Amino acid sequence: MSETEQTAQAKPERKKVILSGIQPTGVFTLGNYLGAVRNWGQMQEDYNCAYFIANLHAITVRQDPAKLRQQTVASYALLLACGVDPQKSLTFIQSHVPTHAELSWVLSCYTQFGELSRMTQFKDKSAKHPENVNVGLFTYPDLMAADILLYQADLVPVGADQKQHLEITRDIATRFNNVHGNVFTVPEPYIPKLGARIMSLADPTKKMSKSDENQNAFVSILDAPETIVKKFKRAVTDSEAEVVYREGKDGINNLMGIYSAVTGDSFETIQRDFAGRGYGDFKQAVGEAVAEHLRPVRENFDRLMKDKAYLEQCYTEGAKKALAISSRTLEKVYHKVGFTKPIR
Ligand code: TRP
Repeated sequence: MSETEQTAQAKPERKKVILSGIQPTGVFTLGNYLGAVRNWGQMQEDYNCAYFIANLHAITVRQDPAKLRQQTVASYALLLACGVDPQKSLTFIQSHVPTHAELSWVLSCYTQFGELSRMTQFKDKSAKHPENVNVGLFTYPDLMAADILLYQADLVPVGADQKQHLEITRDIATRFNNVHGNVFTVPEPYIPKLGARIMSLADPTKKMSKSDENQNAFVSILDAPETIVKKFKRAVTDSEAEVVYREGKDGINNLMGIYSAVTGDSFETIQRDFAGRGYGDFKQAVGEAVAEHLRPVRENFDRLMKDKAYLEQCYTEGAKKALAISSRTLEKVYHKVGFTKPIR
C-alpha cells in the first residue's frame, strides 16, 4: 500500500460537531425532554457533542448569587442525568473557560450596533426589565457567537427563540472570515429528525413552557410522581368524552401525543384501549406513564446531587478539555487581529 493510500485509509471521517448551551435557570420541561433532550444519548454516538451551562449569559438578568451557584451545578447534574456521558461529550460550565469572554470581546468589534439593536430577544427583554437594560443584554449575541465559533461547531440545535442568534453568529463568522481568511466554521441550525411538539396542559394551543406562570401548565422532568399525576388530572381537555385524535380536540390530541411518545403505542392502539372509558381514566394513565418514563432521570439526578465530588471532577476535566480545544481557535483569532499569543 502506498503512503498516500495508507493515510487516506487511516484517517477516520470527522464527526460533525454539535454544540448547545443551557441556561442554569430552571429545569427542562417534559416538552424539552420529549422534543430534544432524550435524543442526546444517541446523538453522542453520531456527533462530537459539546454541552455547557451558560451561566455567563444568565447574569444578563439579575440573579441571586447563592441560587445561581446552586442551580449551575444542578443543571450540570441534570445534563448527565439525561444521558450525556462526560467521557463521550464535552461537558463544562461556561464561566470556567476564559476563552468565551475573550473571544466575545473580539467579536463585539466585528458587530454593528444597528444589528444588535434589531434582535427581538433584546427588545423583548428590555421591555420586560426596563429598570435593567444592561450592556450585557445587548451584547448577549456576541457571547453566544463566541460559544459556538470557539469549538468550530457545524450544527447548533435551536428553538424558534434562538434562531435569530444563530443567524447573527453566521453573519459575524462570515464577516470575520471575509476579512481574515477561513478562521471560523459557519454553523448551521440542527433540526432534530423526530421531536414531539408538546403543548401546555392548561392551554393546549400554546407550547409547553417552563416560564409559564401557571405551574399546572407544564411538567418539569424532576417533578415528583404525585405532582405529575396531579398535573395531568387537571389538564384542560374538551366537553366530549371520547379519546380520539381529531382536529379541534387540542387537549386530547396533546395527551395522546405525550402518551404515545412515552409508551410507544400508536394512536389506533390508544383509541382502542381507551374506547368507552372517560377522560379521567385516560388522564390518570398518561400521568402514571409519564411519571414512570421520567423515573430514571429523577433517580440519576438525585444520585448525582449526592456526589458533589464526582460532579466537580467531571466539570473540572470538562473545563480543561474545553480550554484546550477553544484555545486553538482563540490563538488563531488573536494572531489575525494582531495580538500575540494569550499567556496562561
Ligand atoms: N442563549 C441560549 C438560550 O437562552 C443559551 C446559549 C448560550 C446557547 N450559548 C449558546 C445555545 C450557544 C446554543 C449555542 O437558550
